[in-house]
Amino acid sequence: MTSHQGLPVIDADAARFRSFTETHTPVVIRGLFDTTELSSIRTLDSVRARLGEAVVNVKGNVLERYVGALDPKENFSWSKILSRTRATTIGKYLDEIEQNQKNGQVASEQPAPQEILEMIGASEFLSAIEAGQLASGHKHGSLPKASCLVFLATQGNATDTHTDWDGRHVINYQVFGRKRFLLFPPGSGPKLSPVEIFSTVRLRGMSERSLKDFLQYAGGVEAVLEPGDAIYMPPFYFHHVEYLEHAMGVALRFAPPPERVVASMFRCHRDLWVQNVWARIVHDPESPESQEALAAFESAIAASYGSRVEKYRAILALARSYCERWGVFGEDPSVAWLSSSDFLEHVLSVRYVKREVSPNASWGETFWHAKERTRLAVEMFGRRVISFLQQV
Ligand SMILES: [Fe+2]
Repeated sequence: MTSHQGLPVIDADAARFRSFTETHTPVVIRGLFDTTELSSIRTLDSVRARLGEAVVNVKGNVLERYVGALDPKENFSWSKILSRTRATTIGKYLDEIEQNQKNGQVASEQPAPQEILEMIGASEFLSAIEAGQLASGHKHGSLPKASCLVFLATQGNATDTHTDWDGRHVINYQVFGRKRFLLFPPGSGPKLSPVEIFSTVRLRGMSERSLKDFLQYAGGVEAVLEPGDAIYMPPFYFHHVEYLEHAMGVALRFAPPPERVVASMFRCHRDLWVQNVWARIVHDPESPESQEALAAFESAIAASYGSRVEKYRAILALARSYCERWGVFGEDPSVAWLSSSDFLEHVLSVRYVKREVSPNASWGETFWHAKERTRLAVEMFGRRVISFLQQV
């Protein structure tokens, strides 16, 4: 039985579910795939039997991988980071788990193998949320309408608190094992002190008591999913996911924002202010207030600036003005204080380095360049902090 704090639980009824997607409210869904073949695999052994041959890429925990790359004693190289990813099959990965209970590697955010898409098949519920045609893998644009990913990891692993940046709605379905989800609305940003999309509050390893207190403080909700359960996560929600047991889940990412919104969303830097503007716009892209804000961001993005830092400051000021106008953070006094956006401007503004990619490049290409530049800049910043601390 699912345990959940502050979260409603519903059966897989599309009309009922729509009231949650419309209001961007998290909810636990029971029996989502009960009428499909996927519901027949709910144990590690049945996954091995049915999906053992499916190919997945295995890698280290994302945060640990990047923090590890910051170690100045290691010779930094991109190829080294990339080679830490290796292809295997679900069956072989499960064998490794049995031989080595402390397997720290995860098969996270993997394109769903064809076998899983076939097991999910079609259903009235999926058609109603425009997820009748599932594509495999992570899609950042407005097409395809729905995509499917697999998450497989060992007990003790976690995906540390962060927000996604594609504006899609997400359903996470639990195949086998138990997983804990902690969700925070975008407005909780100041309490999570994020840098870029990652919270700097480490929830992994926190005592149960502190975790409960923190959830209450930051307005978060919690659910522990059992096999067969699913949880709905609205766009731009912060999420922290813990593997309480060896576990596998399937994520459906659906209802992307319109192409015009997606295009601008990927051309802005990422911080809690900008996140909250996009969260509001994707909630109702056609409303006059969203259209007005979108047009303002489009002109700010297209304007010319003396430097990338100037562009960053202009877009940050715009995002702050909308957050204030919309009362996103209410009377929260912590937002009057400095956020990482104020002291990381040289790092975060790297997103506005003049693009070398052609203006006709697909947004996917643009996204890749921007993402890699920001990541590199954050890493260089981290390396400088580490070498500074070593000298103190
Ligand atoms: Fe995520």
